[in-house]
Amino acid sequence: MGGLGRTINGSYAEYTRASASNVALIESDLPWAELAVIPETYATAWTCLFRNLEITPGQTLVIRGATSAFGQAAVNLAVNAGARVIGTSRNRERFALLEELGVERAELEEPHLSERIPEAKRLDAVLDLVGNTTILDSLAMLRRGGRACLAGWLGGLDPIRDFNPLLQMASGVHLTFFGSFVFGTPGFPLSDVPLQAIAEQVAAGRLKAKPSRVFRFEDIHEAHRVMEAGEGKGKMVVVLD
Ligand SMILES: NC(=O)c1ccc[n+]([C@@H]2O[C@H](COP(=O)([O-])OP(=O)(O)OC[C@H]3O[C@@H](n4cnc5c(N)ncnc54)[C@H](OP(=O)(O)O)[C@@H]3O)[C@@H](O)[C@H]2O)c1
Repeated sequence: MGGLGRTINGSYAEYTRASASNVALIESDLPWAELAVIPETYATAWTCLFRNLEITPGQTLVIRGATSAFGQAAVNLAVNAGARVIGTSRNRERFALLEELGVERAELEEPHLSERIPEAKRLDAVLDLVGNTTILDSLAMLRRGGRACLAGWLGGLDPIRDFNPLLQMASGVHLTFFGSFVFGTPGFPLSDVPLQAIAEQVAAGRLKAKPSRVFRFEDIHEAHRVMEAGEGKGKMVVVLD
């Protein structure tokens, strides 16, 4: 977080530099591989849900790209907070995974989901991890005062072309963005995120956050192959023996 792996080299080094403002104490008996799943993904998902989207119990939320590692963390946190969650995947075979995490329903991900989803115009929030290709469609699903958070780009990073809010944006909806690179900067202290409480909920099994795969450092090529083939099925961790 805070630029690690972007402006600060060393994601795959045994030692690296981290900003002191991004060092957080987590007291836990979880093994390292399970702890490693938490910070980036859960801090980001938590911030999107409870800061950008201001989710409250009983609200109905769509998470697009819900089977991604980030999406699964968001489903976990939102369900645990008492929200009604609808998760999307392009693959019906992955609906069972989302149901295990507690979604009320899974929907097939497609660019015009707003035209098909029964809750259209009544939704409180959309967390959009598919990204620029779907965010306008996500805005079209919201009720007045509803919020969309754009925080992932699984569908590609091409800019949104010919976006004319007058013609394409519903009145009274909110569009927000969040990127984890701001953690540790003024206005975005990491202490805002309840990492200790999240780790405790993981340890207690209330959040299902085990890594989908754990690789040895020597097998990092295989980790990349799995990730690039879309076979990760959740958060993958690399450990040094
Ligand atoms: N804002 C931030 O700070 C932040 C932080 C972390 C990650 N991210 C972003 O969040 C996204 C998810 O990251 P991740 O590491 O969790 O991903 P991941 O686990 O690698 O996600 C893989 C899943 O994404 C879905 N997917 C792949 N291509 C897709 C497409 N073209 N359209 C729709 N769904 C597609 C597939 O699910 P199905 O086959 O089930 O559809 C796939 O299994 C990425 O875009 C990443 O850059 C943002």
